[in-house]
Formats: sequence, structure tokens, C-alpha cells
Amino acid sequence: MKKNYMDRFSLKDKVIIITGGGGLIGMKHAEAVMEGEGIPVLLDIVEAGMIRVKNSLLEEYGEGVVETFVTDITKREELEKIRDVLMEKYGHIDGLINNAANNPKVEGGSKNLAATRFEEFPVNIWKDDLAVGLTGAVLCAQVFGDVMQKQGKGIVINISSDYGLISPDQRIYRKEGVPEDEQIIKPVSYSVVKHGIIGLTKYLAIYWAQKGVRVNTLCPASLENGQDEEFKKKISNLIPMGRMSKPDEYVNTVLYMLSDASSYMTGATVVLDGGRTSW
Ligand SMILES: NC(=O)c1ccc[n+]([C@@H]2O[C@H](COP(=O)([O-])OP(=O)(O)OC[C@H]3O[C@@H](n4cnc5c(N)ncnc54)[C@H](O)[C@@H]3O)[C@@H](O)[C@H]2O)c1
Repeated sequence: MKKNYMDRFSLKDKVIIITGGGGLIGMKHAEAVMEGEGIPVLLDIVEAGMIRVKNSLLEEYGEGVVETFVTDITKREELEKIRDVLMEKYGHIDGLINNAANNPKVEGGSKNLAATRFEEFPVNIWKDDLAVGLTGAVLCAQVFGDVMQKQGKGIVINISSDYGLISPDQRIYRKEGVPEDEQIIKPVSYSVVKHGIIGLTKYLAIYWAQKGVRVNTLCPASLENGQDEEFKKKISNLIPMGRMSKPDEYVNTVLYMLSDASSYMTGATVVLDGGRTSW
């Protein structure tokens, strides 16, 4: 007799908060929630991206609910207000994806990138990167995780990166003819934030292990997003599978991690990197 294991992937009516929900991968996390018939709640400091994501999801799926809140996740009082609104409306909060981070696209795309040589890396950028990527994740886990531990059920996914496991190979970002001290490199704060978030996962997974709240890390890597051919070739040479990832290659894993399909998984680091960190 069929055992209906696929039913365990359901997120029916579950309220799942996604920080940085207006960004590139935030949209894909929201798709995972929509696929499972849950309710994605997007939190972002920039309204425009979030509205674009919401409209596109409602158009693609034709039905369902997408909640949006313009907020700065480094401000605890703003998060508490959102928690209260959601609890008033739904009475439960079932999941949190700590996805927001300052993610400078060194290979192109990000505007006004200053040279980020370690020796001169500005302390104000360091503080801001840690505030969004680590403090924001901690505050969201405090405010929304508290609801989940009181409910006795919930799930947190912390988004790290292959750069949470290995150092960036700065050679792929080098531009010919640019002096050493003007080369733009992946900043030290990115490595520290992405390594740190794995520590947060392990800490909380154990802290809430008996409370029904599971906490895991997802490490996406090397997303294709309109980079030039030269960069794609350089990075692909570092990846055993020989190619960058597509944004929709994370959706099924996120659905698995958010749902009861992964009911015995906590404290884990799930790495989707085409093999990059394995050789
Ligand atoms: N794109 C990649 O290649 C890649 C690879 C590995 C890991 N990641 C990780 O995935 C996550 C998402 O990356 P992305 O490429 O979608 O980035 P993105 O820049 O497209 O999205 C990040 C979003 O976070 C929002 N944000 C920034 N500060 C905020 C704040 N204080 N409060 C609320 N929202 C805030 C931004 O407005 C933006 O919409 C990040 O944690 C990143 O480190 C990305």
C-alpha cells in the first residue's frame, strides 16, 4: 500500500518568514513556500524588489497569499511589531529563513563598490555587513524563534554560502591592468558572516533540540545571474561539475528543509555547490 511520503512535503497554511525576500534568492525561497501551499512572508528593507516578487508570485501561482513588510531586520522593535501582526492574523509562525545579507556582487552588478583590500577595509562597512548578516539573523531568531519554541514546533534555515566553508579564490575577480590596491575583492566581512551563520545554526539547533524547533544551514554557491562569459569560465573551472548554479536549483531543497520531510535533520549544513568544496 502506498505510504504517501510525498504528503510530508506539504507546507499547507504554514507561515514562513523570509528575510531579504525581495532579492534574487529570496524570491526562490518564496516559490518553495508557494509550492508547498504555505504563506511566504517577505521582509526587506527595499520595497520595490519585494513588490516585484509578490506580483510575480501571485501571477505565476494564480492563487495564494504573499505577505510583505518593509523593515530593517537589525531593529528588534520592528520585528516585534511584525510578529504581533502575524500572530493576530494567523495565530502561528512556522518557519524563518534568515536569508538577508549584504552580498556585494564583486564580479559585476553591484554599484559603487569601493576597493575592498583587507588592509584598508572600512570599519563602517564591516559593522554594517555584520549587522545585517549576523545581528539581523540573531534578532529574527530571537523574535520569531521564541514563538516557535513556545508552539513546540518550527523550522529555521540560515543561508550561508560555499564561502561559509572555504575562502574566496580572489583570482576569479581580478581585472587585468588594475593596480593591486584598486582590485575589488570579495570582502572579509562576507567570509566572516557566512562562517558565523553556520555557528549560529549549530548553537540554536542544540539550544532548541528538545523544543521541536529544527535549525539548519543551506549553502548555495556560484549563482548564474547575468555575469560576463569570462567570469563564468573562471568560476566554472573551480567547480567539479563545470558550471554555475541556476537560482531554481535550490527550491526543492528548501521545500525539503522547511517541511516534515526533513523531520530528523537539525544542526546540519546542506551544501549545493556542484562539488566546489569537495576537492
Ligand atoms: N547570489 C549568490 O551567488 C549567492 C551565493 C551563495 C549564497 N548567497 C546568499 O544568499 C542570500 C541571498 O543572496 P542574494 O544573491 O539573493 O542577495 P540579494 O542582494 O539579491 O538579496 C538580499 C536582500 O536583502 C535585503 N536586505 C539588505 N539589508 C537588509 C536589512 N537590514 N533588512 C532587511 N532586508 C535587507 C536587500 O534589500 C536584498 O533584497 C545571502 O545570504 C547570500 O549571502 C548568495
